[in-house]
Amino acid sequence: MTTTEQSTTDAATAGSHATEIARSGAATFRTGGGSVDQQRAASVIGAALEGIRSAIREQKVTYEEFDAFKRWLIAVSDTGEWPLFLDVYLEFEVEKVAAETQDGSVGTILGPFWLDGQAQLSSPATLPMRDDEPGTPMILAGQVTATDGTPLAGAKVDIWHTDDEGWYSGFASKPPAGNLRGVVTCDDQGRYEIHTRKPAPYTIPLDGPTGQMTLAAGWSPWRPAHIHLLVTAPGHRTLTTQLFFTGDPYLGNDVASADKPELTLDPQRTGNGDEIRSDRDFVLEPEA
Ligand code: DHB
Ligand code: FE
Repeated sequence: MTTTEQSTTDAATAGSHATEIARSGAATFRTGGGSVDQQRAASVIGAALEGIRSAIREQKVTYEEFDAFKRWLIAVSDTGEWPLFLDVYLEFEVEKVAAETQDGSVGTILGPFWLDGQAQLSSPATLPMRDDEPGTPMILAGQVTATDGTPLAGAKVDIWHTDDEGWYSGFASKPPAGNLRGVVTCDDQGRYEIHTRKPAPYTIPLDGPTGQMTLAAGWSPWRPAHIHLLVTAPGHRTLTTQLFFTGDPYLGNDVASADKPELTLDPQRTGNGDEIRSDRDFVLEPEA
């Protein structure tokens, strides 16, 4: 019911690029040290393996299914889909654990499609887009403050989202490089205003092993339309979040389980053609 013939990203293109980025560790704003504590390794890996072994026992998994699992794991590697699979099916739990000890605005998963080195813009900013960029013109605006209410002058809002057809630049061949991506520096009151196009719902690539597994289980491969944001300010913890849209048919049934009620926008018409606008403030926690 919720599947389509057409996927908005093809597995091989998206997967290989996302793998390169994950391997490079470009998302260093989240990575910690590289040391491995033996007790911690035994405890985390032991629990993960026991989870799988217990599924085998409970479900009476057959050799045929075990062999299919091996072939599937190999296909995930071959197509470069590990970042995609992990970000869709596991990242939201890691994010929930992280959120237990975090203050400030509600966050959610990063996902596999963040890119470094995008256009550096000053607020008010228009994201790079094609002359005839399709979709509803949208303004997202607000203020970045610290948890004590201090406006964070010079905070940065790194934003990326799909186009009106659900394609991400840098991962699908259709949009040009850098389309609908940018890093916007806020004004001296921490205020930002970003002009873009409303994104569209997105299906994970259906031609790769992650999509095939999803369809095999009869699950929806859709993500509700969303805008990704990394909000940064010196001396403050980076906020990784996404914003969704009220009325989206896939809210509450996000394949990546990343939607949260606090993250839903209800944009209003501005009166300028069919342009819409949402205001959203962000609160960052001082770094410990
Ligand atoms: C995937 C896509 C997203 O847009 C996202 O935010 C998370 C995961 C994916 O295709 O894996
Ligand atoms: Fe996304």
